[in-house]
Amino acid sequence: MATTSHRGDWHPASWRDREATQLPVWPDAAVAEGVYQQVRGLPPLVFAGEARRLTRALGEVVAGRAFMLQAGDCAESFDDFSADSIRDKLKVILQMAVVLTYGSGVPVLKVGRIAGQFAKPRSSPTERVGDMDLPVFRGHIINDDVPVPAGRIPDPTRMLTAYHQSASTLNLLRAFTKGGFADLSQVHSWNQEFLSSSAEGRRYEAIAEEIDRALRFMRACGVDLTTDSPIHQVDLFTSHEALLLGYEEAMTRQDSLTGQWYDCSAHFLWVGERTHQIEGAHIEFATGIGNPIGCKIGPKTSPDEVVEICEALNPERTPGRLTLISRMGVDAVRDKLPPLIRKVSESGHPVVWQCDPMHGNTFASESGRKTRHFDDVLGEIQGYFAVHRSLGTWPGGVHVELTGDDVTECLGGIGDILEEQLPLRYTTACDPRLNARQSIDLAFRVAELLRAR
Ligand code: PEP
Ligand code: CO
Repeated sequence: MATTSHRGDWHPASWRDREATQLPVWPDAAVAEGVYQQVRGLPPLVFAGEARRLTRALGEVVAGRAFMLQAGDCAESFDDFSADSIRDKLKVILQMAVVLTYGSGVPVLKVGRIAGQFAKPRSSPTERVGDMDLPVFRGHIINDDVPVPAGRIPDPTRMLTAYHQSASTLNLLRAFTKGGFADLSQVHSWNQEFLSSSAEGRRYEAIAEEIDRALRFMRACGVDLTTDSPIHQVDLFTSHEALLLGYEEAMTRQDSLTGQWYDCSAHFLWVGERTHQIEGAHIEFATGIGNPIGCKIGPKTSPDEVVEICEALNPERTPGRLTLISRMGVDAVRDKLPPLIRKVSESGHPVVWQCDPMHGNTFASESGRKTRHFDDVLGEIQGYFAVHRSLGTWPGGVHVELTGDDVTECLGGIGDILEEQLPLRYTTACDPRLNARQSIDLAFRVAELLRAR
């Protein structure tokens, strides 16, 4: 089964003939070319067959038989890279998935914003720091977040660091998810200490206890849970924004089985809100790769544009190939989303409708820190569910920025983080993330919304 257009003139570098926004200008093009060459020689991080499996699983989401949880950092960091932080992020994703699955009875497809989420689109090319205007931070694959002029110069050798960090992150994730850590009998151990004493931690414990009981019951009934059972392993797919096209191009390989091109830097790639111009370089790149693709859709996108995006990215109308990730903001979602869904439904395009309740709800706190309020995040999800309910379409998933750490970056939530607490543990390299407690709480709320359908 073909998954893309096989447009004859597409090749991994064909985006270079299109207008590209948000790309760095490397100070020395020859050095960058040398790095691309090296990246082209490095092993793929994922295999085409895995990406095809994800497309099929997303087809189940299109059909309303599964739900997609996509979650992880806004920007992974070269400075915050340890086994513990990977493990803790995985724990929260697994916990959220358990809460969602148990609470809704629907299979949950797990996709991390992890093992490659290093490049950031920015609203402004410069940033005011003290009395200096500095080039803006564009993610650790491009430059440094430290606000000094030298650090902000794009450095192509960072692509090699990003590749190797992605490889070791993915290696550990594969070990954790396939080697016993993600076994459902470990469901209690994913609850971190600081969580277990909190209300939502206890709520999670109650579910974990019920899962234990169910497993004991099945064993007692003679169900063989020892071998090859899906209970012992989970599939966690990886994803990131396909922003830095030179790197993505260099990671794109032809599958020997099908002859199709795949971007082997991750299973799932998405095009961001700032780069989805229909004639632009980022859409051009995405049209030709066989991976499942996402596209962010903000409040300014018209229904016609969304259908054009569907035509460009999924001309063969393969279910699971395309996920539209709406990020409207809590105040716009109920007005702006319905005309888009109606138009896409009329067009007959099969899509996963996913809600990113983070990026339309960012604001500067009084102290100037970027933040989001938990109530706005939840409010956008509620609006998204209400819209889908009224149109009879399937709310296919959520897309959130989170960390396993006990950070204070988003306001409100069950621990009710206040403005003055933001500086306490504000460690994000880019956007404010939900902490573990806020994430689990959100999963309970989403499970309730799913159940209420
Ligand atoms: C992101 O997902 O981190 C992001 C920048 O999103 P958007 O393109 O929707 O603004
Ligand atoms: Co972000």
